[in-house]
Order: sequence, then C-alpha cells, then structure tokens
Amino acid sequence: MKTGFLLISCAAIALLAARGNADEPKLLRVCADPDNLPFSDKEGGGFENRIATLLAEDLGMKVEYFYWPHRRGFMRSTIKAKECDVLMGIPKGMDGFLITRPYYRSSYQFVSRVDRDLDITSLDDPRLKKLKIGVHTIGYDYNNSPAARSLGARGIVGLTGYSTFYTDENRPDAIIAGLAEDKIDLAIVWGPIAGYFGKQSPVPLSLAPLPDVDQSTRTPYAYDVVVGVRKAEKDLHARIDESLERKKAEIAAILAEFNVPLAHAPAAAATEGQPSVQQASTTGHGTDKLLASADEYQGWKWFHVYCFRCHGVDAMGSDLAPNLRKSVSSEGLITHDLFLKTVLEGRQEKGMQSWKELLDQKQIEQIYSYVKARSDQRLDPGRPHRATAAQ
Ligand code: HEC
Repeated sequence: MKTGFLLISCAAIALLAARGNADEPKLLRVCADPDNLPFSDKEGGGFENRIATLLAEDLGMKVEYFYWPHRRGFMRSTIKAKECDVLMGIPKGMDGFLITRPYYRSSYQFVSRVDRDLDITSLDDPRLKKLKIGVHTIGYDYNNSPAARSLGARGIVGLTGYSTFYTDENRPDAIIAGLAEDKIDLAIVWGPIAGYFGKQSPVPLSLAPLPDVDQSTRTPYAYDVVVGVRKAEKDLHARIDESLERKKAEIAAILAEFNVPLAHAPAAAATEGQPSVQQASTTGHGTDKLLASADEYQGWKWFHVYCFRCHGVDAMGSDLAPNLRKSVSSEGLITHDLFLKTVLEGRQEKGMQSWKELLDQKQIEQIYSYVKARSDQRLDPGRPHRATAAQ
C-alpha cells in the first residue's frame, strides 16, 4: 500500500482543506497543488478543484485555496501544519486521517497506440519482454514504482522512467507524448492521468486496466479514492461524507468529463489477468460469443476509446448516457442511418459532442456493427477476438 500511495500522492492527490475555525465555519480551505492537472491547478481547472467546489456549495461553504506543490514534505507542509484539514484524492487504506466513503475507484492502465494493435491486458503477456515500457517513477528511484516491481518479478527490467513530479521540464503527460512519438511502445499509468492526457493525444490511444491486484507480487493496481479529514474534525468529516453521497451523480459527471477510467468495486472485480472493468469471459466451448468480425472488433476498440465512459463498458449503458444496445434494437429508435448522423453531429445540448473531428464514417460504421452485435446478443460482454485473426 505504501508504494502505491506514494505514487498516487505525488502524482495524483489534490488537497481540500477545511479550516476548523469556529469563527469562520463557512470557509472550506482547500490545499491543492497549483500545477497538477487533471487533479488541480491554480485556476481551479482540475477535477478535484471542481469536486471541492461542488462539496463546498452543498455544505454552504466557500472554497479558499492553499497551494503547495506535491513534493516530499507535502503532508508536513499542509495538513500536518494545519494549513488544511481535509485532503482530497487519497487512496483508501492510508492512515493518519478520518476517511470518507470512496468517491471513485480507478486503476492503473496499460496505454498504447490503437494502431499498434497490442491489446495488452495482462502483466504476464510474453510480449512485454520485447516492448519498450514507460512508467512513472517516484523521485529518482526507478524501482520504486508498482509496475517496476511487478515487471521486475517477471524478469522485465530496463523500463523507461518518467518523472512523477511536475516541474517546467518534467510534465506528467510526457509519458503519453512518448507513445505518440514512438519513444515507448507501452505505458503503465495511473487511470486519471492516462484518461485525461490520453484523450488529448494526437494519435488515438487505447487503455486497458491492469489487474486489481497482481497476485504474484501482491501489488495493488486499483484504488478506492477517498477524502481524508484531520482526526480532530469529526463533524466536518461526517458532513463531507454525506455530501459525497448526495453529490454522487454530479461527481460521476465531472469524472466522465475528465475521462477518468473507473474500476468496479473490489467485490465485483475479476481475477488477475482479466481487467476488472471487463466482464471476464473466455473463448469458447460451444458457441464462441466473443468471436467478432473484423469490423465488430475494430468497433469494440473505438467504442472503448471514445464511448465507454458515458455509454458504459461493453455497451452496458450507464447513468450518464443511454444504453445503446437498446437504442439500436427493434425497441429503440436509432436506425443505422440515424446512428451515423447522431454520432457525426453529436447531441450537444444533451452533453454529447460531435465526433466528426475524431472519427471518420468507417470508424463509426465499425462502432455501429459492434453495438449491433452486442444488441443482437451475438457478442458477449468482454474483450472479443477477431474472426480473421488466428487466435
Ligand atoms: C460525454 C458522454 C458521452 C460520450 C463520450 C458519448 N456519448 Fe453518446 N450520448 C451521450 C448522451 C448524454 C446521449 C443522450 C442524448 C439525449 O438524451 O438525447 C447520447 C446519445 C447517443 C446516441 C443516441 C442514442 C439514443 O437512443 O437516442 C448515440 C447513437 C450515441 N450517443 C453514440 C455514441 C457513440 C458512438 C459514442 C462514441 C464515439 C458516444 N456516443 C460517446 C453522451 C455521450
């Protein structure tokens, strides 16, 4: 847990603070890194900024920021110095605070170029030995990252390290740029960073979660993320906890906007090697319901790059957007032509952008054939394989 925490805390924690001052109970002092997107920045543009504002408004408080960059000594200079009473975005399992209910769960992601067709979903994939793999590192110690530990245990060394700390020269998105520039073949990146910067990449990237826990090294890759509250602030803790429940839908929308890949709760998670956000299903005995045509297979990939975060993994639908399996079925209103038109034009006023800058007609056709195959129950949830590929 410790190592995982260090990585997340350095790279991924924004801080939210509530001044426990009886004179000014309405001031929620937020400690945040001034330059740590997608989490926070000094313009308040990160998702932790946005969630902090949401909670403060719900509690009738006002946010005031205390900015401090994420470096060693961060805790000491912020919450321990009582500059803030509340920390946002800490992984559950860390002691030293009262912790709230989780407001999201994400996992580390394998990130690669869609056009490389790698589809790596397991730490035991033999191809990992031949690929150039980038990881974020803590400080100067390359061995100090969870991925380095899991891969090292499998004899895979010589990873390309990218700094976790933000400075003018070291940007956290350098690892994503490394993929676009072919400096590395594969990156292993904490979900929110992968989702946010991956989306901005000039070349389409695909994301696939690491296992919740790498059993062979007991390294966790999925984390519940909670708010940590200074132990003395019991009342504030309870209020924030309730607010998180009340604001669930809004928080989900903010996370979706920042393209944060979410993982299922641990109970529902699949076993190692099978990504937790996909329903485990294996190739078959009897009818193989993961056997996809080439177009359906491509469609599955595009869908899981661009559409899943609102329309749900495996086109299952979600709170944010309609279940497309239903939309394209005989009960739904979306014909093939209307599907193309809707995707090209978007439904701007309802929260879906136009996809015409990102997807061409052929790609949208492929997505349609994937969704249709799911709708007609020819394809099961999970990762399909190609009819054309010898597998
Ligand atoms: C940011 C969230 C979001 C993303 C990402 C997204 N959509 Fe949507 N989509 C929506 C919402 C919200 C609606 C519902 C609009 C409405 O109520 O009319 C919608 C509606 C649709 C509809 C019409 C469904 C119906 O029954 O009316 C289609 C088709 C569709 N989306 C396809 C896609 C495809 C394909 C992608 C990926 C390329 C995608 N969407 C990505 C949010 C999203």
